[in-house]
Amino acid sequence: MKNILKIRVAVMILGTIVVAGLSAYRSLGQAGRGQTFRLDGGDVTYEFGVNERGELQAIYWGEKLGAHDAVVAAHSMPEMASFDSPGTTTPQEYAAWGAGLFTEPGLKISFADGNRDLVLHFVSSHATAGNYEILMKDISREIRVTLRYSMDAESGILARSAVIENRDKAAVVVEQAAAAQWTLPAARYTVSYLTGRWGGEWTLNQEPIQGGSRVIESRRGSTGHQANPWFAISRDDSGKTVGPLSAGEEHGEVWFGALAWSGSWRITVERTQLDAVRVTGGFNPFDFGYKLNPGEKMETPIFYGGYSNHGLGGASRLLHHYELVHILPTAPNPKPRPVIYNSWEATEFRVDEAGQEALAEKAASIGVDRFVMDDGWFGQRKDDHAGLGDWYVNKEKFPNGLKPLIDKVHSLGMDFGLWVEPEMINPDSDLYRKHPDWVLNFPGRPRSESRNQLVLNLARPDVRDYVEGFLDKILSENDIAFLKWDYNRNWSEPGWDAVPVDEQKKVYVEFVGNLYAILADLRKKHPKIEIESCSGGGGRVDLGILRYTDEVWPSDNTDPYDRLSMQNGFSYAYTPQVMMAWVTDSPHWGNNRATSLTYRMLSSMDGSLGIGANLNKWSAEDFATAKRLIAAYHAVQKTIVQGELYRLISPRDGSEFSATESVSGDRGQAVVFAYADATIQGRGFPLLELQGLDPDARYKLAFIEGKALSGTLETASGDWWMHHGISLDLRGDFQAASFRLDREK
Ligand code: GLA
Repeated sequence: MKNILKIRVAVMILGTIVVAGLSAYRSLGQAGRGQTFRLDGGDVTYEFGVNERGELQAIYWGEKLGAHDAVVAAHSMPEMASFDSPGTTTPQEYAAWGAGLFTEPGLKISFADGNRDLVLHFVSSHATAGNYEILMKDISREIRVTLRYSMDAESGILARSAVIENRDKAAVVVEQAAAAQWTLPAARYTVSYLTGRWGGEWTLNQEPIQGGSRVIESRRGSTGHQANPWFAISRDDSGKTVGPLSAGEEHGEVWFGALAWSGSWRITVERTQLDAVRVTGGFNPFDFGYKLNPGEKMETPIFYGGYSNHGLGGASRLLHHYELVHILPTAPNPKPRPVIYNSWEATEFRVDEAGQEALAEKAASIGVDRFVMDDGWFGQRKDDHAGLGDWYVNKEKFPNGLKPLIDKVHSLGMDFGLWVEPEMINPDSDLYRKHPDWVLNFPGRPRSESRNQLVLNLARPDVRDYVEGFLDKILSENDIAFLKWDYNRNWSEPGWDAVPVDEQKKVYVEFVGNLYAILADLRKKHPKIEIESCSGGGGRVDLGILRYTDEVWPSDNTDPYDRLSMQNGFSYAYTPQVMMAWVTDSPHWGNNRATSLTYRMLSSMDGSLGIGANLNKWSAEDFATAKRLIAAYHAVQKTIVQGELYRLISPRDGSEFSATESVSGDRGQAVVFAYADATIQGRGFPLLELQGLDPDARYKLAFIEGKALSGTLETASGDWWMHHGISLDLRGDFQAASFRLDREK
């Protein structure tokens, strides 16, 4: 009898839930059914709408449509088979996991009562110029999701993100949260993405998009060297000119995106069973779990997406410009980077006042703008075994503090920069002896070290305050123009035992949030400070960190030949403005390759130039060469780092030649770099047909380094340079040339 009662009560309760669910579903009513949304910017149109089921559905993303073309209303897919229900085949703008969704979800949530079904329907929209905020809600529960869309009028790049809010009575756990999902027209495609490793970042991979998923990700707590949160998808079919595996550089349709997040991230490129291509990106769901108490909300990073019908070259030019004008902290007018000197490769940890001053004098003599002291100046830092965490000046190396060195650097006409690695700690440090609980760890488990260091748990408020405090103090007490902010390992044992168990996984989000907050605060308190994001090279390069930092260190590998292919890969996603490139010593420490100073200079001048060689070993001739080329660089730097980049000849896939061209925004100037890395069987350097010039203007040729074969005009039309082209006299191994074209007034 008792049991029967129990069952009856259970049935009643169940009934109430079902009815409550249905009535809530009805209460959403027919909100927005058939409503459509359209965003236009640059050469791009983006459309989505509410289908007859109430889901927000992708409609169109691509070449700009006619201004008066009506948006066709969204209709969910018909049921193709019992295995392919509309719930999974309809391309939703932001699909929640529930109701039989088998493709990649945008959002997955666990409720306290064990329910894990979530179905988002449209509630309302709010529009301002170029922006939409779309409110969605679960069909029965008070989970609200606001999708944000912001289209840049100039480039057509769309910024998308989501805010997830729990208005239910109990806590929920967000197990997966994308920033956005993108849907492409059903077609055949090639996907491009960047992978790498320490010392070998920025490899461009290209492969056809096949059925299934290609996942690029970091589970490391930070962006990572191994993959970068950027993708481009080139259309292969329908006579749109790009062939399989040969995504066109200057022609064809390309969709691209970049995720602004410096923590663990994931981008999934999926070709569904019905050949729809979708891209989902956001927090990495691996080991993810973000608890939202009633009334709390969380915000995803921004996922930027764009479209170009000028190939991968067009796509990267749009991104570069967008980064300069919208992302960088000094946008829309970031200054070209000062030419820096950094002694890391010359002296490593052996820094002291006299040694640094001697190098500073030599650096100033060749026209360097900024002198940066790298690792080794603080705590008991003699090598990488000790000192991280103890951010006081080492008295043996700098008995009178940093001031004498900084004054000396200023007197030489340069400003001063300093290396820091704020989020790290050596167990051999006063800080660790005092606060062993401050590191990421699982109590009772080993604390795995890398480079003899552990990661401070920046999610903790006390750690956050400590880090911001010491940086603020250093910047307040010293006249410092620049910080090289390093980060030399990835996470292990990512525990945060100071908070309740069900809050601990928030570390993935809070850590990065605090990093951004510290950077933002420091920039506010010290408005002149400039910052480089370095992570053992290019381990933390993404559009998230670039909102707070002025430049990045692409790789610890400074070999000028290796750099050419890395710089090429880097340029697909990021502007040369932020790409620091140092000239270091030959033979190179990493591979024993010997190259001329001229070749090294030109390889680095093809980005934001720095000098990292041991100047104590330079000859008078070396100083003269560097001085001449730094002056030449200064004269055209803006065009190189902020112009329109054309990758004329790719250095990838074993090519013995490569060339880049940068054209200033007003098309008044072009700067070309060309490299012959090997001359095989006497083959000459390929004809260079330039791009992006004003066809009718007349341009005058001037060589920065090297020369042309005879038969080149000195002054000719843009048409001539673009179609007749120029043949360089460039032969041998690791030879480089550079020239500029200036429009005649
Ligand atoms: C990292 C950086 C280098 C240098 C060292 C110092 O490896 O990428 O440029 O600053 O740390 O320890």
